[in-house]
Amino acid sequence: MLFQKINISIIGTGYVGLPTALGFSKLGHNVTCIDNNNIKIQELKNGIIPIYEKGINTLFFKEYKKITFTTSIKDGISNADIIIIAVGTPTNKKTNEADLSYLFNAVNEIKIYLNKRTKLIVTKSTVPVKTGDKIEKIINNSNIDIISMPEFLREGFALEDFFNPDRIVIGANNKRYLYLIKKLYRKIKRPIIYTDRTSAELIKYTANAFLAIKINYINEIADLCENINANIDDVAKGIGADSRIGNKFLKAGIGYGGSCFPKDTQAMATFGNKYNVNLTLVKDAIINNKKRQKNIANKIYNIISQINEKQINVGILGLAFKNNTDDCRESPSINIIKSLLKHKNINIIAHDYKAINTAKQILNNKISYSNNIEDVINNADIICILTEWEEYKKIDFSLLYPRHKIIFDGKNLLDKNKLKGYQYYCIGKRG
Ligand code: UDX
Repeated sequence: MLFQKINISIIGTGYVGLPTALGFSKLGHNVTCIDNNNIKIQELKNGIIPIYEKGINTLFFKEYKKITFTTSIKDGISNADIIIIAVGTPTNKKTNEADLSYLFNAVNEIKIYLNKRTKLIVTKSTVPVKTGDKIEKIINNSNIDIISMPEFLREGFALEDFFNPDRIVIGANNKRYLYLIKKLYRKIKRPIIYTDRTSAELIKYTANAFLAIKINYINEIADLCENINANIDDVAKGIGADSRIGNKFLKAGIGYGGSCFPKDTQAMATFGNKYNVNLTLVKDAIINNKKRQKNIANKIYNIISQINEKQINVGILGLAFKNNTDDCRESPSINIIKSLLKHKNINIIAHDYKAINTAKQILNNKISYSNNIEDVINNADIICILTEWEEYKKIDFSLLYPRHKIIFDGKNLLDKNKLKGYQYYCIGKRG
């Protein structure tokens, strides 16, 4: 059978939209990217990638000349078989609901310019349950189906996850155009789960909240380990070997961050209330995760208090909310830095492989930044590892000479046997 190209228009060129666009282009489809940020679109046209993702450079330079980039929904959807919505749905700080204004702005404009070619509008943005119903009402066109295909891409591994997803979830109330989705994913031989639209919307939130709760749980057990002198890494290994539990998302640390877990748990708790279900586990995860970051800042400050200097230099290794990304949204590292800065006797100098520019947009000149790890370490009274960059494991601390040789390892990255002469503090085990 001849491979049939599908015309896809993707609205939103962020951490989900752009990797998805590159992925579909690589699979041989015709892709148009639409974004209302003119600077971003011009950059993309000129071969400048606005985000960092592992492996994105290579794929981008193979594909970007095949992709059409535009700021116009009218032009961008004129030839689309499928329109994919991948715009942001941040938390509305007043209501704690997901802010759907970007999404509905896009939908209202799509409605004006829709033509007969388009069969499907797919929501990939994470949207509260029943949002698909609202989109359907606005579009109000019996020739078009609105389906939910939640995205499970992890930042930093987005391309890997695109080509090798654990599953593809398709939530459709009408199955007549699903042949198009099958063609779209023809080359990806992974399990497909078909369900109704509302269930698909709920799957995304339930998955993210489950993982947030799992991290929260291992962090609580880490605290217990510290008080009873047990070892959290061994406990995680011991429970993770049980296939019912699984060994992923059991790394104790400084709390979760990012553009998804914090906002999605918040939105889920809020729509739980709306539908009369008190999602207590989710609510506890939100509260405990915030508390954890404050507690970690206090813990660091307590360690600092033993240092007999007027001004303390804190060297931070890692600003991004996790490794392999430049994203600092809801980064625990940034939150911990903000708490530490409340103490007048603290100066901070921070390193990150990719996130210095994004961190600057939040912290401005309240701290100093350096691309040189050795500089940061040699000038620090205490070194705090706050992002799990694999490269930090390779630092040879025996060759470095910080004034006080104190390390707080918030990600349990280092091997304490290689840290002779250092005071080493970590999470959920004896340093
Ligand atoms: C998450 C989901 O994994 C993904 O499926 C969804 O599409 C978007 O949200 P992401 O936010 O990119 O992806 O990052 P993830 O790798 O899930 O990590 C989230 C946070 O949890 C990070 O701050 C990370 O450091 C933390 N984490 C993760 C832990 O503290 N311990 C772990 O064991 C795993």
